[in-house]
Parts: sequence; structure tokens; C-alpha cells
Amino acid sequence: MNSRGWRVDPSRLIITLIFLALALVSSVAMAATGDATRGEQLYTGSLAMTNGGSPCIACHALSGLSTAGAANYGPDLSGLYADYEAEGVMAVLESLAFPSMEAIYATRPLTEAERLNLTAYFAQVAEQQAPPASSLAGPILLGIVIVFAIVALMGLRRLKGVRQPLVDQVRKQRGIKA
Ligand code: HEC
Repeated sequence: MNSRGWRVDPSRLIITLIFLALALVSSVAMAATGDATRGEQLYTGSLAMTNGGSPCIACHALSGLSTAGAANYGPDLSGLYADYEAEGVMAVLESLAFPSMEAIYATRPLTEAERLNLTAYFAQVAEQQAPPASSLAGPILLGIVIVFAIVALMGLRRLKGVRQPLVDQVRKQRGIKA
């Protein structure tokens, strides 16, 4: 056997592993995210459910939609995503085992793609509802930190570049040990 075949450059191995990990992460992320636009169409009924289920808007209101088109036989679903998070919403949509809905969806379940798209749409609705201040807080804080970091870096350079040689010079002139 040729032992050279087993020798692997460690840095290449690491780079390959990083690429593999990135590919895995991105494929998982892609698989787990639905299309909010299609979700909205499913919600409002402009896109038919594959198995013939009714659009949610027939019974539910959702802020972000004009109330003219929304019924309120079922509870308002605006807070759904905030209450359940993505996994919870996916689980709820899988069974839709609520008394008023079971009769429809037990025999007309949502497909996985439909559940992902609806979940993405509920997430988008939740995002739109969040007060703008909280969504801006992150970027603003980051900006402040970056500005401080730049100022601090420049200050340090200045200290080292200008002040320190002067201090050294004076010390030397006066015979003071550093
Ligand atoms: C036939 C009317 C009807 C349709 C269509 C309908 N729902 Fe409902 N839904 C209800 C009612 C009424 C309730 C309240 C519980 C009950 O009485 O069954 C409910 C409850 C829910 C709940 C629980 C809410 C909570 O706060 O616990 C969720 C989630 C939900 N519906 C999602 C959906 C989604 C998503 C769709 C579209 C795929 C949909 N519903 C379509 C009538 C409907």
C-alpha cells in the first residue's frame, strides 16, 4: 500500500471541513425556511392548498391584513409566532387539531411546504408588529460600539505615536528612569 495516499495536509483538511460545515448549515437553513409571500397567498386563499383545505382568512383575522378581508370566527393569529416560535407553529399547523378546524384539515392536511410557507408568513407578521425601536436597537448599539472602538484605537495610536516618545525624551533629558 502506498502510505503517501494517507498523508493529509492539516490546513487543507481544516478548510475542507469548514466548507462542509458551511454547506451543511446553509442547506439546513434553506430547508427550514419557507417563503413568506407564498405563505401570505396560502393564508388569504389566492393560492389554493394542495389538499383542498380552506384558507385561514376564512375564519381568522391577522393584523397586517386589511380587516375587510378577515373574519373573526377564530382567534386573531397575529400573536401566533410570538407565542409559539417557528417549531411550535410548525407543530400546530401539522395537526390543526382544534375543534372548529379538525373537520376541515383532518382529511385535508397542509403539506410540509405549505406549513413552512405559512410559518414564514407568521414570522414576517410578527416582525412587522415588533416596535421599530427594538429592531433598531441592535444596529444602533453596534454602530456606537464601532465608533468607540475606532476612537479608542486612534487614541491608543496617538498615545503611542506622539505622546510616548515625548515622555521618553523628557525622561531621558532629566535622567529619570522609565
Ligand atoms: C372554519 C374556520 C377556520 C379555518 C378555515 C381556520 N381556523 Fe384556525 N381556528 C378556528 C377556530 C374557531 C379556532 C378556535 C378554537 C376552536 O374553536 O377550534 C381556531 C384556532 C386556531 C389556532 C389556535 C389559536 C390559539 O391561539 O391557540 C390556530 C393556531 C389556528 N386556528 C390556525 C389556523 C390556520 C393556520 C389556518 C389556515 C391554515 C386556520 N386556522 C384555518 C377556525 C378556523
